[in-house]
Amino acid sequence: MSNVLVLGANGGIARHATDLFLRGTKTRLTLYLRDSGRLKNVDSSRVRIVEGDVLDFAKLKEAMSGQDVVYANLAGDLERMAKNIVKAMDATGIKRLIFISSMGIYDEVPGERYGSILEPYRKAAAVIEASDIDYTILRPAWFTNSDEIDYELTQKGQPFKGSQVSRKSVAALVVKLAESPGLEVRRSLGVSKPE
Ligand SMILES: NC(=O)c1ccc[n+]([C@@H]2O[C@H](COP(=O)([O-])OP(=O)(O)OC[C@H]3O[C@@H](n4cnc5c(N)ncnc54)[C@H](OP(=O)(O)O)[C@@H]3O)[C@@H](O)[C@H]2O)c1
Repeated sequence: MSNVLVLGANGGIARHATDLFLRGTKTRLTLYLRDSGRLKNVDSSRVRIVEGDVLDFAKLKEAMSGQDVVYANLAGDLERMAKNIVKAMDATGIKRLIFISSMGIYDEVPGERYGSILEPYRKAAAVIEASDIDYTILRPAWFTNSDEIDYELTQKGQPFKGSQVSRKSVAALVVKLAESPGLEVRRSLGVSKPE
């Protein structure tokens, strides 16, 4: 039975993933978020809630104790967050990281240039890729709320395929990666609904 730390646990994808972890696996979850009052109806003996900011190194390091996988579902100053996460993982000896980023960070979407809006995502990916962590970076297409799990993957260096993907699909991929040691390690994956 593994232990997964969810950073930014009130995020849209994270809430779907929490639901899928609890319904489909035996994984124990630590839900890390800035305002624990926002999480409603999480009633499971397999869930621990930690209130904290990812930029708070001491708190983050403490929450990492005993974890097997760190799943980061964040927005904002992602470069600073990525640096803190990598540092805390190094300090605690945790190797596995699943990090939600965005399509377009390598200008890999045919016909699109997203420019400076993706700068935090690019810089965070660079921090993670320069580390010796067993990371999987996910680069999802535009999110939809479709109640479906339907996605295909592209690897770094390949042109991105498709333009959208359901939140539930990204969450299902996170759960699969967390449950499958060694799967897509040190990879950066484009995620989209097949067209
Ligand atoms: N919308 C799209 O179509 C699309 C497509 C591809 C990728 N993405 C990106 O994918 C990522 C995940 O998406 P999402 O919809 O699940 O994100 P989201 O709902 O915006 O969640 C991001 C979470 O990050 C948390 N957070 C921000 N700063 C934090 C800090 N310093 N410490 C702790 N938590 C912090 C926020 O917490 P609070 O609740 O405390 O604010 C929020 O819950 C985002 O970066 C998003 O931009 C989006």
